Amino acid sequence: MDTGVLNSSRVTLQEKGLEVALPDRGATYFNYYWLRDNCPTSFDSATRERQFDIFHLSQPPRPANASVEGDKLVVSWANENHVSQYPLTMLASYADGTHRPDPADLPRKAWFSDHYPSIARFSQPELMKSPEKVAEWIKAMIVEGLTIVTDMPDSNEGLTETVKLMGHVRSTFFGEFFDVRTYINPTNTAYTAKALELHTDTPAEEHAPGIQFLHCRANSVEGGLSIYSDGVAVANDFRKIDPEGFRLLSEIDIPFYCEHDTYDMRSRQRVIELDKHGEVSGLTISQHMADIFDLPQTVLDDYYPAFCRFGKMLQDDKYMMRFLMKAGECMVFDNHRIVHGRLAYSATSGDRYLRGCYADREEMRSTYRALTTEGRFK
Ligand SMILES: [Fe+2]
Repeated sequence: MDTGVLNSSRVTLQEKGLEVALPDRGATYFNYYWLRDNCPTSFDSATRERQFDIFHLSQPPRPANASVEGDKLVVSWANENHVSQYPLTMLASYADGTHRPDPADLPRKAWFSDHYPSIARFSQPELMKSPEKVAEWIKAMIVEGLTIVTDMPDSNEGLTETVKLMGHVRSTFFGEFFDVRTYINPTNTAYTAKALELHTDTPAEEHAPGIQFLHCRANSVEGGLSIYSDGVAVANDFRKIDPEGFRLLSEIDIPFYCEHDTYDMRSRQRVIELDKHGEVSGLTISQHMADIFDLPQTVLDDYYPAFCRFGKMLQDDKYMMRFLMKAGECMVFDNHRIVHGRLAYSATSGDRYLRGCYADREEMRSTYRALTTEGRFK
Protein backbone atom coordinates (compact mmCIF):
# COMPACT_ATOMS: atom_id res chain seq x y z
CA MET A 1 0.00 0.00 0.00
CA ASP A 2 1.30 3.43 -0.88
CA THR A 3 0.81 5.69 2.14
CA GLY A 4 2.14 8.52 0.01
CA VAL A 5 3.78 10.31 2.92
CA LEU A 6 6.00 13.00 1.46
CA ASN A 7 9.09 13.57 3.56
CA SER A 8 10.86 15.89 1.20
CA SER A 9 10.36 16.78 -2.39
CA ARG A 10 12.63 13.87 -3.32
CA VAL A 11 11.51 11.11 -0.92
CA THR A 12 8.14 9.37 -0.57
CA LEU A 13 7.66 6.93 2.31
CA GLN A 14 5.55 3.88 1.44
CA GLU A 15 4.44 0.82 3.41
CA LYS A 16 7.45 -1.46 2.88
CA GLY A 17 9.95 0.93 1.39
CA LEU A 18 10.58 4.41 0.11
CA GLU A 19 10.97 6.08 -3.23
CA VAL A 20 13.83 8.47 -3.66
CA ALA A 21 14.53 10.58 -6.73
CA LEU A 22 17.99 9.64 -7.98
CA PRO A 23 19.93 11.73 -10.49
CA ASP A 24 19.31 10.46 -14.05
CA ARG A 25 16.83 7.83 -12.81
CA GLY A 26 13.96 9.65 -11.12
CA ALA A 27 11.85 7.97 -8.41
CA THR A 28 13.54 4.72 -7.38
CA TYR A 29 12.26 2.23 -4.82
CA PHE A 30 14.22 0.73 -1.88
CA ASN A 31 12.97 -1.71 0.74
CA TYR A 32 13.27 -0.63 4.41
CA TYR A 33 14.93 -3.86 5.57
CA TRP A 34 17.52 -3.53 2.79
CA LEU A 35 18.19 0.09 3.68
CA ARG A 36 18.55 -0.54 7.40
CA ASP A 37 20.75 -3.62 6.87
CA ASN A 38 23.07 -1.81 4.49
CA CYS A 39 23.57 1.44 6.33
CA PRO A 40 27.26 2.25 5.69
CA THR A 41 27.87 2.00 9.46
CA SER A 42 26.91 -1.70 9.28
CA PHE A 43 30.41 -2.51 8.07
CA ASP A 44 33.52 -2.48 10.24
CA SER A 45 36.41 -0.75 8.51
CA ALA A 46 39.02 -2.91 10.23
CA THR A 47 37.58 -6.38 9.71
CA ARG A 48 35.66 -5.25 6.58
CA GLU A 49 32.86 -7.52 7.74
CA ARG A 50 29.24 -6.69 8.47
CA GLN A 51 28.97 -5.88 12.17
CA PHE A 52 25.27 -4.96 12.22
CA ASP A 53 22.94 -7.93 12.71
CA ILE A 54 19.41 -7.26 11.48
CA PHE A 55 18.14 -10.33 13.35
CA HIS A 56 18.54 -8.30 16.54
CA LEU A 57 16.00 -5.62 15.59
CA SER A 58 12.96 -5.93 17.85
CA GLN A 59 10.60 -4.46 15.24
CA PRO A 60 10.55 -4.20 11.44
CA PRO A 61 12.63 -1.17 10.40
CA ARG A 62 10.57 1.93 9.58
CA PRO A 63 11.83 5.49 9.03
CA ALA A 64 10.65 8.33 11.25
CA ASN A 65 11.62 10.59 8.38
CA ALA A 66 13.83 10.65 5.33
CA SER A 67 15.21 13.32 3.04
CA VAL A 68 17.87 13.99 0.47
CA GLU A 69 20.66 16.21 1.71
CA GLY A 70 23.28 17.05 -0.87
CA ASP A 71 24.35 13.81 -2.54
CA LYS A 72 23.02 11.58 0.26
CA LEU A 73 19.75 10.03 1.38
CA VAL A 74 19.40 10.58 5.13
CA VAL A 75 17.05 8.30 7.07
CA SER A 76 16.18 8.64 10.78
CA TRP A 77 14.86 5.34 12.00
CA ALA A 78 11.80 5.03 14.25
CA ASN A 79 12.20 2.92 17.42
CA GLU A 80 15.97 3.27 17.18
CA ASN A 81 18.42 6.00 17.96
CA HIS A 82 20.07 5.68 14.56
CA VAL A 83 20.48 7.84 11.47
CA SER A 84 21.70 6.37 8.17
CA GLN A 85 23.32 8.26 5.33
CA TYR A 86 23.49 6.63 1.91
CA PRO A 87 25.48 8.09 -1.01
CA LEU A 88 23.03 8.34 -3.92
CA THR A 89 25.64 6.71 -6.18
CA MET A 90 25.65 3.65 -3.90
CA LEU A 91 21.84 3.45 -4.07
CA ALA A 92 21.91 3.77 -7.86
CA SER A 93 24.26 0.77 -8.18
CA TYR A 94 21.72 -1.48 -6.40
CA ALA A 95 18.54 0.06 -7.85
CA ASP A 96 17.89 -2.54 -10.54
CA GLY A 97 18.54 -5.66 -8.45
CA THR A 98 21.21 -6.73 -10.91
CA HIS A 99 24.10 -8.72 -9.54
CA ARG A 100 27.21 -6.89 -8.44
CA PRO A 101 29.68 -6.77 -11.35
CA ASP A 102 32.46 -9.33 -10.95
CA PRO A 103 35.84 -8.42 -12.48
CA ALA A 104 36.70 -12.14 -12.55
CA ASP A 105 33.63 -12.99 -14.64
CA LEU A 106 35.43 -12.60 -17.97
CA PRO A 107 34.20 -14.05 -21.26
CA ARG A 108 36.00 -17.24 -22.25
CA LYS A 109 37.98 -17.38 -25.47
CA ALA A 110 37.88 -20.77 -27.15
CA TRP A 111 41.09 -22.12 -28.68
CA PHE A 112 41.82 -24.83 -31.24
CA SER A 113 44.57 -27.27 -32.21
CA ASP A 114 46.85 -24.55 -33.62
CA HIS A 115 47.00 -22.79 -30.25
CA TYR A 116 50.34 -24.15 -28.98
CA PRO A 117 52.59 -21.27 -30.20
CA SER A 118 50.21 -18.68 -28.75
CA ILE A 119 49.63 -20.25 -25.33
CA ALA A 120 50.18 -17.49 -22.75
CA ARG A 121 53.59 -18.13 -21.15
CA PHE A 122 54.91 -16.65 -17.93
CA SER A 123 58.38 -16.94 -16.47
CA GLN A 124 58.25 -18.26 -12.89
CA PRO A 125 60.95 -15.91 -11.48
CA GLU A 126 59.09 -12.94 -13.02
CA LEU A 127 55.78 -14.07 -11.53
CA MET A 128 57.46 -14.38 -8.13
CA LYS A 129 58.41 -10.70 -8.12
CA SER A 130 55.53 -9.06 -10.00
CA PRO A 131 51.90 -8.97 -8.78
CA GLU A 132 50.99 -7.34 -12.12
CA LYS A 133 52.34 -10.41 -13.95
CA VAL A 134 50.36 -12.66 -11.61
CA ALA A 135 47.19 -10.72 -12.51
CA GLU A 136 47.98 -11.19 -16.23
CA TRP A 137 48.59 -14.88 -15.65
CA ILE A 138 45.30 -15.39 -13.83
CA LYS A 139 43.43 -13.37 -16.46
CA ALA A 140 44.78 -15.72 -19.14
CA MET A 141 43.69 -18.68 -16.98
CA ILE A 142 40.14 -17.33 -16.68
CA VAL A 143 39.85 -16.43 -20.38
CA GLU A 144 41.76 -19.28 -22.08
CA GLY A 145 41.90 -21.88 -19.30
CA LEU A 146 45.49 -22.91 -20.06
CA THR A 147 48.92 -21.31 -19.56
CA ILE A 148 52.54 -22.44 -19.36
CA VAL A 149 54.83 -21.28 -16.57
CA THR A 150 58.41 -21.43 -17.82
CA ASP A 151 61.81 -21.36 -16.06
CA MET A 152 60.48 -23.39 -13.14
CA PRO A 153 62.99 -24.24 -10.39
CA ASP A 154 63.83 -27.95 -10.50
CA SER A 155 62.43 -28.57 -7.01
CA ASN A 156 59.29 -29.54 -5.15
CA GLU A 157 59.31 -26.13 -3.45
CA GLY A 158 59.31 -24.42 -6.85
CA LEU A 159 55.91 -25.91 -7.61
CA THR A 160 54.47 -25.06 -4.18
CA GLU A 161 55.57 -21.42 -4.32
CA THR A 162 54.08 -21.08 -7.81
CA VAL A 163 50.71 -22.42 -6.66
CA LYS A 164 50.75 -20.03 -3.70
CA LEU A 165 50.82 -17.06 -6.08
CA MET A 166 47.17 -17.78 -6.85
CA GLY A 167 45.89 -19.75 -3.85
CA HIS A 168 46.71 -22.81 -1.79
CA VAL A 169 47.57 -26.36 -2.71
CA ARG A 170 44.25 -28.18 -2.78
CA SER A 171 44.51 -31.74 -1.49
CA THR A 172 42.58 -34.59 -3.00
CA PHE A 173 41.93 -38.05 -1.60
CA PHE A 174 45.41 -39.08 -2.76
CA GLY A 175 47.18 -36.25 -0.97
CA GLU A 176 48.69 -32.86 -1.73
CA PHE A 177 50.87 -33.84 -4.70
CA PHE A 178 51.12 -36.65 -7.22
CA ASP A 179 54.11 -37.88 -9.14
CA VAL A 180 53.49 -39.08 -12.70
CA ARG A 181 56.13 -41.62 -13.66
CA THR A 182 56.05 -45.33 -14.41
CA TYR A 183 55.40 -47.53 -11.38
CA ILE A 184 55.83 -51.30 -10.95
CA ASN A 185 52.35 -51.75 -9.42
CA PRO A 186 50.35 -48.81 -10.80
CA THR A 187 47.06 -47.72 -9.16
CA ASN A 188 46.24 -45.45 -12.08
CA THR A 189 46.67 -45.54 -15.86
CA ALA A 190 48.68 -42.30 -15.54
CA TYR A 191 51.35 -44.25 -13.68
CA THR A 192 52.01 -46.54 -16.65
CA ALA A 193 53.64 -45.87 -20.03
CA LYS A 194 50.32 -46.44 -21.82
CA ALA A 195 48.43 -43.75 -23.69
CA LEU A 196 46.16 -41.70 -21.48
CA GLU A 197 43.05 -40.50 -23.27
CA LEU A 198 41.76 -36.95 -22.91
CA HIS A 199 40.16 -36.46 -19.50
CA THR A 200 39.56 -34.15 -16.56
CA ASP A 201 41.08 -35.22 -13.23
CA THR A 202 39.35 -36.80 -10.24
CA PRO A 203 35.79 -36.72 -11.59
CA ALA A 204 34.85 -39.15 -8.82
CA GLU A 205 35.18 -36.33 -6.30
CA GLU A 206 31.96 -34.43 -5.67
CA HIS A 207 33.85 -31.17 -6.27
CA ALA A 208 36.84 -31.96 -8.43
CA PRO A 209 39.74 -29.52 -7.99
CA GLY A 210 39.58 -26.51 -10.27
CA ILE A 211 43.14 -25.75 -11.40
CA GLN A 212 45.74 -28.34 -12.23
CA PHE A 213 49.51 -27.82 -12.20
CA LEU A 214 51.77 -30.29 -14.03
CA HIS A 215 55.42 -29.51 -13.49
CA CYS A 216 57.69 -31.32 -15.94
CA ARG A 217 60.93 -32.24 -14.19
CA ALA A 218 62.27 -34.62 -16.83
CA ASN A 219 61.12 -35.73 -20.27
CA SER A 220 63.68 -37.59 -22.36
CA VAL A 221 61.58 -40.62 -23.37
CA GLU A 222 60.54 -41.57 -26.87
CA GLY A 223 56.87 -40.67 -27.36
CA GLY A 224 54.72 -39.33 -24.55
CA LEU A 225 53.52 -36.25 -26.40
CA SER A 226 51.08 -34.21 -24.31
CA ILE A 227 47.58 -33.73 -25.74
CA TYR A 228 45.15 -30.99 -24.78
CA SER A 229 41.74 -29.80 -26.06
CA ASP A 230 39.58 -26.89 -25.00
CA GLY A 231 36.29 -28.32 -23.73
CA VAL A 232 34.59 -24.96 -24.29
CA ALA A 233 35.57 -24.88 -28.00
CA VAL A 234 34.36 -28.45 -28.54
CA ALA A 235 31.13 -28.15 -26.53
CA ASN A 236 30.18 -24.85 -28.22
CA ASP A 237 30.52 -26.50 -31.66
CA PHE A 238 28.72 -29.62 -30.42
CA ARG A 239 25.84 -27.41 -29.29
CA LYS A 240 25.48 -26.12 -32.88
CA ILE A 241 25.70 -29.45 -34.69
CA ASP A 242 23.80 -31.63 -32.20
CA PRO A 243 21.50 -29.55 -29.94
CA GLU A 244 19.68 -32.61 -28.60
CA GLY A 245 22.96 -34.40 -27.79
CA PHE A 246 24.15 -31.24 -26.09
CA ARG A 247 20.99 -31.16 -24.00
CA LEU A 248 21.50 -34.76 -22.87
CA LEU A 249 25.16 -34.22 -21.96
CA SER A 250 24.41 -31.01 -20.08
CA GLU A 251 21.36 -32.29 -18.20
CA ILE A 252 21.94 -35.97 -17.33
CA ASP A 253 24.30 -36.93 -14.50
CA ILE A 254 26.50 -39.95 -15.12
CA PRO A 255 28.45 -41.91 -12.49
CA PHE A 256 32.23 -41.72 -11.97
CA TYR A 257 34.30 -43.83 -9.60
CA CYS A 258 37.80 -44.33 -8.27
CA GLU A 259 38.24 -47.51 -6.32
CA HIS A 260 41.15 -49.47 -4.88
CA ASP A 261 42.10 -51.24 -1.63
CA THR A 262 41.48 -48.33 0.75
CA TYR A 263 39.18 -45.95 -1.11
CA ASP A 264 35.89 -45.98 -2.97
CA MET A 265 35.16 -42.52 -4.35
CA ARG A 266 31.91 -42.01 -6.26
CA SER A 267 30.11 -39.04 -7.74
CA ARG A 268 27.61 -38.14 -10.43
CA GLN A 269 28.50 -35.38 -12.87
CA ARG A 270 27.23 -33.80 -16.07
CA VAL A 271 29.69 -34.12 -18.93
CA ILE A 272 29.00 -30.55 -20.10
CA GLU A 273 28.77 -27.88 -17.40
CA LEU A 274 26.96 -24.57 -17.93
CA ASP A 275 27.57 -21.35 -16.01
CA LYS A 276 25.01 -18.89 -14.65
CA HIS A 277 24.79 -17.25 -18.09
CA GLY A 278 23.92 -20.59 -19.76
CA GLU A 279 27.34 -20.62 -21.44
CA VAL A 280 29.55 -23.72 -21.46
CA SER A 281 31.94 -23.39 -18.51
CA GLY A 282 33.59 -26.76 -18.82
CA LEU A 283 33.51 -30.53 -18.82
CA THR A 284 33.80 -33.54 -16.59
CA ILE A 285 34.92 -36.54 -18.57
CA SER A 286 37.21 -39.49 -18.03
CA GLN A 287 36.96 -42.82 -19.76
CA HIS A 288 39.15 -44.54 -17.15
CA MET A 289 36.96 -43.28 -14.29
CA ALA A 290 33.49 -43.50 -15.87
CA ASP A 291 31.46 -46.02 -13.89
CA ILE A 292 28.95 -48.40 -15.48
CA PHE A 293 26.12 -46.10 -16.56
CA ASP A 294 23.24 -46.95 -14.21
CA LEU A 295 20.56 -45.23 -16.24
CA PRO A 296 17.41 -46.62 -17.88
CA GLN A 297 18.51 -48.54 -20.97
CA THR A 298 16.09 -46.59 -23.18
CA VAL A 299 17.72 -43.31 -22.03
CA LEU A 300 21.05 -44.82 -23.04
CA ASP A 301 19.62 -45.39 -26.55
CA ASP A 302 19.96 -41.63 -27.00
CA TYR A 303 22.70 -40.83 -24.47
CA TYR A 304 25.44 -43.16 -25.74
CA PRO A 305 25.47 -41.96 -29.37
CA ALA A 306 25.68 -38.34 -28.16
CA PHE A 307 28.38 -39.21 -25.60
CA CYS A 308 30.50 -41.03 -28.22
CA ARG A 309 30.04 -38.29 -30.81
CA PHE A 310 31.22 -35.73 -28.29
CA GLY A 311 34.13 -37.89 -27.08
CA LYS A 312 35.34 -38.30 -30.68
CA MET A 313 35.06 -34.55 -31.26
CA LEU A 314 37.44 -33.90 -28.35
CA GLN A 315 40.12 -35.85 -30.22
CA ASP A 316 39.44 -34.25 -33.58
CA ASP A 317 42.39 -32.59 -35.34
CA LYS A 318 40.43 -29.35 -35.30
CA TYR A 319 40.65 -29.18 -31.50
CA MET A 320 43.49 -31.33 -30.13
CA MET A 321 46.98 -29.89 -29.59
CA ARG A 322 49.96 -32.24 -29.43
CA PHE A 323 53.31 -31.14 -28.16
CA LEU A 324 56.27 -32.26 -26.11
CA MET A 325 56.51 -30.89 -22.59
CA LYS A 326 59.98 -29.76 -21.70
CA ALA A 327 61.73 -29.99 -18.34
CA GLY A 328 61.32 -26.68 -16.51
CA GLU A 329 57.81 -26.05 -17.84
CA CYS A 330 54.65 -26.21 -15.78
CA MET A 331 51.29 -26.61 -17.50
CA VAL A 332 48.60 -24.78 -15.53
CA PHE A 333 45.04 -25.39 -16.64
CA ASP A 334 41.40 -25.33 -15.64
CA ASN A 335 40.58 -28.92 -14.72
CA HIS A 336 36.88 -28.26 -15.34
CA ARG A 337 37.44 -26.96 -18.85
CA ILE A 338 40.60 -28.30 -20.45
CA VAL A 339 40.88 -32.02 -21.19
CA HIS A 340 44.40 -33.40 -21.09
CA GLY A 341 46.18 -36.66 -21.78
CA ARG A 342 49.30 -38.10 -23.38
CA LEU A 343 50.35 -40.50 -26.06
CA ALA A 344 52.07 -43.76 -25.11
CA TYR A 345 55.82 -43.72 -24.53
CA SER A 346 58.68 -46.15 -24.19
CA ALA A 347 59.46 -46.43 -20.47
CA THR A 348 62.98 -47.72 -21.10
CA SER A 349 63.97 -44.96 -23.53
CA GLY A 350 64.66 -42.29 -20.88
CA ASP A 351 63.18 -40.43 -17.93
CA ARG A 352 59.68 -38.98 -17.73
CA TYR A 353 58.68 -37.34 -14.48
CA LEU A 354 55.87 -34.86 -13.86
CA ARG A 355 54.93 -33.59 -10.41
CA GLY A 356 51.36 -32.39 -10.17
CA CYS A 357 48.98 -30.74 -7.76
CA TYR A 358 45.83 -28.63 -7.73
CA ALA A 359 44.44 -25.29 -6.59
CA ASP A 360 40.86 -24.06 -6.55
CA ARG A 361 39.21 -21.76 -9.07
CA GLU A 362 37.45 -19.73 -6.37
CA GLU A 363 40.74 -18.82 -4.74
CA MET A 364 42.27 -17.97 -8.10
CA ARG A 365 39.40 -15.61 -8.92
CA SER A 366 39.61 -14.11 -5.43
CA THR A 367 43.31 -13.35 -5.95
CA TYR A 368 42.51 -11.80 -9.32
CA ARG A 369 39.89 -9.48 -7.85
CA ALA A 370 42.20 -8.46 -5.02
CA LEU A 371 45.01 -7.71 -7.50
CA THR A 372 42.92 -5.78 -10.00
CA THR A 373 40.12 -3.90 -8.19
CA GLU A 374 39.83 -1.33 -5.46
CA GLY A 375 37.28 -3.26 -3.43
CA ARG A 376 34.75 -1.48 -1.26
CA PHE A 377 36.86 -0.97 1.83
CA LYS A 378 40.27 0.11 0.60
FE1 LIG B 1 45.20 -36.33 -15.52
